[in-house]
Amino acid sequence: MPSLKSYNTFGLDVRCSQLVRVRSKAQLEGFILENNPLAESCIILGGGSNVLLLGDIERPVLRNEIKERSVVSESKKHVIVRAGGGENWHRFVRWCIREGYGGLENLSLIPGSVGAAPMQNIGAYGVEIKDVFHSLEAVNLKTGKTRVFKKAACAFGYRTSVFKERLKGKYFITSVNFKLDKIHQLSLSYGAIQTELSNRNVSNPTIKDVSDVVIAIRRSKLPDPKEIGNSGSFFKNPIIKSAKAKNLKKDYPTIPVYPQADKMSKISAGWLIEQCGWKGKKMGGAGCYKKHALILINRKNATPQDILKLCAAIQESVSQKFGIDLIPEVNFIK
Ligand code: EPU
Repeated sequence: MPSLKSYNTFGLDVRCSQLVRVRSKAQLEGFILENNPLAESCIILGGGSNVLLLGDIERPVLRNEIKERSVVSESKKHVIVRAGGGENWHRFVRWCIREGYGGLENLSLIPGSVGAAPMQNIGAYGVEIKDVFHSLEAVNLKTGKTRVFKKAACAFGYRTSVFKERLKGKYFITSVNFKLDKIHQLSLSYGAIQTELSNRNVSNPTIKDVSDVVIAIRRSKLPDPKEIGNSGSFFKNPIIKSAKAKNLKKDYPTIPVYPQADKMSKISAGWLIEQCGWKGKKMGGAGCYKKHALILINRKNATPQDILKLCAAIQESVSQKFGIDLIPEVNFIK
């Protein structure tokens, strides 16, 4: 059975019955036609950067390797760019910057593939993919038919979309179109970006400056999956009632609270986990990253069970101490 060790950024040595490297839509359509109904139960992998593989997979794994970068249309102000689902996300972002297309610079250095990006509505430093998303094409694994999804049909939310909920596992995203700016509008609201820009004496930043700064910030606190296996933020930042957040603030004045719509507030999961003493702690082959408590790492030949045990222990502590349930952001795959 082929190993998926180099296809998941946690670096877990899990196997699958068959690994299919999908390089074109035609190849995928042919596979579905020949393997009906098995194709419906296949697992889809992109960059493998937001998954926890729970054990060997007794079904084929379809790895998205469809490559394409092209301009679909342009006007004076905007450009619609199309990227293959198997494109590396960061390389695509840097290509857009070189071409002078703005909008993706805050999302620099996020590990993973273009096709996986809309699934969890990736976001960082004040920008989410939904802000620049135009549409996507996806192939139904049951029928082999292509469907175009516009923004509303994707039901984007905080680190989620219809592809993580109602249509989970049903569609293979072959390409994504983005609406980018030729006249740039920078998102500099995130404090760390401004600090880093002024450290560099940049007063009139370009999209490349913003991208470079985001890369530096990420490198300073997030582990490189090539060196330390991890899946980025392991949990979502919990969204709780503002009244409860206000009470917590009385007991814990330093708790980071970000007010949201509808009398709700977002709390930093990393802060909650650190307060429970987990930052830098080890448990079996797994660990909680020493520079950022929201990142669980494969410290030393971790098994999926090592990561699961650490996940459960952290959830238990945060629930005991703060009465808050942490929900994993990473997709668990059985
Ligand atoms: N914090 C701590 N201790 C820690 C880690 C963080 O106290 O160990 C505090 C920080 O001091 C800060 C707050 O928590 O006050 C927020 O931390 P940070 O700015 O690092 O952001 P985050 O909320 O932990 C989110 C995203 C990241 C994204 C960053 C930057 C989620 C689940 N995570 O992290 O996305 O890069 O904001 O925008 O929303 C990912 O989704 O995989 C990911 C890395």
